[in-house]
Amino acid sequence: MFKNNCLKFILLSLSFICLNVSAQKDIDTKVQKLLKKMTLEEKIGQMVQLNGFWDFTGPAPKDGDGAKWKYDALKSGKVGSVLNVRGVKNVRQLQEMVVNESRLGIPLIFGFDVIHGHKTVFPIPLAESASWDLDAMENAARIAAIEASAEGLNWTFAPMVDISRDARWGRVMEGAGEDPYLASEVAKARVKGFQGKDLSDDNTLAACAKHFVGYGFAESGKDYNAVDVGTSTLYNVLLPPFQACIDANVRTFMNAFNTLNGIPATGDDFLQRDILKGKWNFDGFVVSDWGSISEMQAHGFAKDLKDAGIIAANAGCDMDMESYAYVGHLKEAVEEGTVAEALIDDAAARILKVKFELGLFDDPYKYCDTKKEKELLYHPDHKKAALDMAKKSIVLLKNEGNLLPLDKKQKNIAIIGALADEDNSPLGNWRLGTDNNTAVSFLEGFKKYTDNYSYEKGVDIFLKAEDFLHEVEVNNTDKSGIDAAVALAKKSEVVIMVLGEHGYQSGEGRSRANLDLPGLQKKMLKEVYKVNKNIILVLMNGRPLTIDWEAENIPAILETWQLGTESGNAIAETLFGDNIPGGKLTMTFPRTEGQVPIYYNYLNTGRPGPIDLVFWSHYTDETNAPLYPFGYGLSYTDFAYDNMKVVNNGNNIQVSVNVKNTGNYDGSEVVQLYIRDKVASVSRPVKELKGFEKIFLKKGENKTVNFTLTEKELGFYNNRGDFVVEPGDFDVMVGTSSLEGLSDSFEWK
Ligand code: BGC
Repeated sequence: MFKNNCLKFILLSLSFICLNVSAQKDIDTKVQKLLKKMTLEEKIGQMVQLNGFWDFTGPAPKDGDGAKWKYDALKSGKVGSVLNVRGVKNVRQLQEMVVNESRLGIPLIFGFDVIHGHKTVFPIPLAESASWDLDAMENAARIAAIEASAEGLNWTFAPMVDISRDARWGRVMEGAGEDPYLASEVAKARVKGFQGKDLSDDNTLAACAKHFVGYGFAESGKDYNAVDVGTSTLYNVLLPPFQACIDANVRTFMNAFNTLNGIPATGDDFLQRDILKGKWNFDGFVVSDWGSISEMQAHGFAKDLKDAGIIAANAGCDMDMESYAYVGHLKEAVEEGTVAEALIDDAAARILKVKFELGLFDDPYKYCDTKKEKELLYHPDHKKAALDMAKKSIVLLKNEGNLLPLDKKQKNIAIIGALADEDNSPLGNWRLGTDNNTAVSFLEGFKKYTDNYSYEKGVDIFLKAEDFLHEVEVNNTDKSGIDAAVALAKKSEVVIMVLGEHGYQSGEGRSRANLDLPGLQKKMLKEVYKVNKNIILVLMNGRPLTIDWEAENIPAILETWQLGTESGNAIAETLFGDNIPGGKLTMTFPRTEGQVPIYYNYLNTGRPGPIDLVFWSHYTDETNAPLYPFGYGLSYTDFAYDNMKVVNNGNNIQVSVNVKNTGNYDGSEVVQLYIRDKVASVSRPVKELKGFEKIFLKKGENKTVNFTLTEKELGFYNNRGDFVVEPGDFDVMVGTSSLEGLSDSFEWK
């Protein structure tokens, strides 16, 4: 019976692989056939992507985004893609124009930043990653794709898989944190979610691994800044999540704004040709970041826009997003021989291939169904999934004296903080697809449980300009709300302070040099603390904050990030114990900005200390330890680890541990496995995550969790970029965070 089933499975898999190979061959043949019919200008046209914030229904304005030349370019097949056009009516209209009026009728591919949900907004990706729940993250991306494709879109610029160790960088909100192993798993889940089972289905989006590569290592955390990394970090930390996307068959890549070791990533042939399209054999296409080809002039790498276009095309950047370098100069470059026509053919073929895979040639309007659009956007099932994801993303940082969960009959509660009344900020920064003010605010969620509360806004954290394009202005002077907040706290039994960053304070261009609670919030918190110490701090933020005073003094702290559409409901359920928090940080929280960059998988140095003398690797005015480490997060219940076993099978290592729920609630735990390769030809980190499992245990229940370590987990990339597995001694630790666990060791022969 078992044998029969095995045979069936193998035959089925083989026939699936054969079908796939033949479908791919079929597509390649079609692409080559089409390519032969195309003029040079039409091929270059496929490599051009234009922004679509223009009213193409009415008469074309004379300049700006609505310039007439754009219409002419679209109609004459000189544009392969647009971004920021969505809605079935708009997409259909533009697609019809291009398909009907251009000579070969090649459909456009419509791109958009579908980052964490679309209409229904999910938690910011950093928050989602704190769930360590890969199925939930895949499902979140799936739903985002269902909604976005119902609006006519077929390509998302996600997932962002940049690793970052620097919370000053505003885009940490868009990634999966600091660890390459976890980020790789998350990357695969998100790609699968967006692309679905078969890209040609009508509810899929081609995904895009971005930003290739190094963007999250911007020097001093300042967005767009130069990146300098050594080979070991490049191969072992930055590249793996991108390679994981390839494993998940991601169809597109986006290069990056930054220079990597002096070369702008957009013009780097080592990255795009040698690694991505060479070593990794990537057969999809690479799009530039917004204007990043043109920016190579400012980098001092290209002398003019034409030069920039030549460099980018030669380096392997297949599509130009909004630099106008390809549409303006590439034909001339080919004619004069500075770009080989074979490279144009290759780029156009890659783009056409993805369009074929999406099924756009079979039916350019397959994503244009108004009935579906009406039915699927904000679908109640999507909200349910967003609530589930939001609940899983919450991290309990502190809970002294079990202040949480709140008793549902608790009287006399004070709620303080402008963010408590926000139905916009919890949507985060990347929510271009949704409507403003569509999140359930903290207060709305809370009200569903009790009306035994009073609310004071306290200090304003923003004065104006709360939008995507402008910076949020922080109130650093108007203290007028503090008195009322203090007065309310004085007469209340419990105070819930809802503080943090506005959704628009993290994200692109939102680097911060100070990681404190912005504005006067901390001052207000300290004033309130003077009259009432029974405080639950609910944090809403897009990045780790330096909350050392809060961690020292405030008894309960709940990290709720920006949780999306269902934010208020998820938080209320958690405060009142209908959701037991189980999230774990995926980015280290520093005590002070001076510790940044800070991360758990650092190298030991030659002087790890501590020793009595000053000559070891440390600060004289601050400890080395983070405030909260990677992998950290509490629960309302407790988990005990014991009976760790390590069995060396020669070709793999089996590690098992028993985990018991010893507390008073059913709850989930993320069991984490870390290794340390003690001696290697390249120094290895003091700890590296190499496995995790999220388990759910009823109170009193226990479970044995098993891990298998193979060459894949035990090896690393040497400085030539080769993956090597070296014999020697390893430490292994299994536990509840990167800091705490049971440990053992083994020898790999
Ligand atoms: C961002 C990309 C984004 C693109 C298109 C750029 O500014 O860096 O991540 O996909 O804009 O909106």
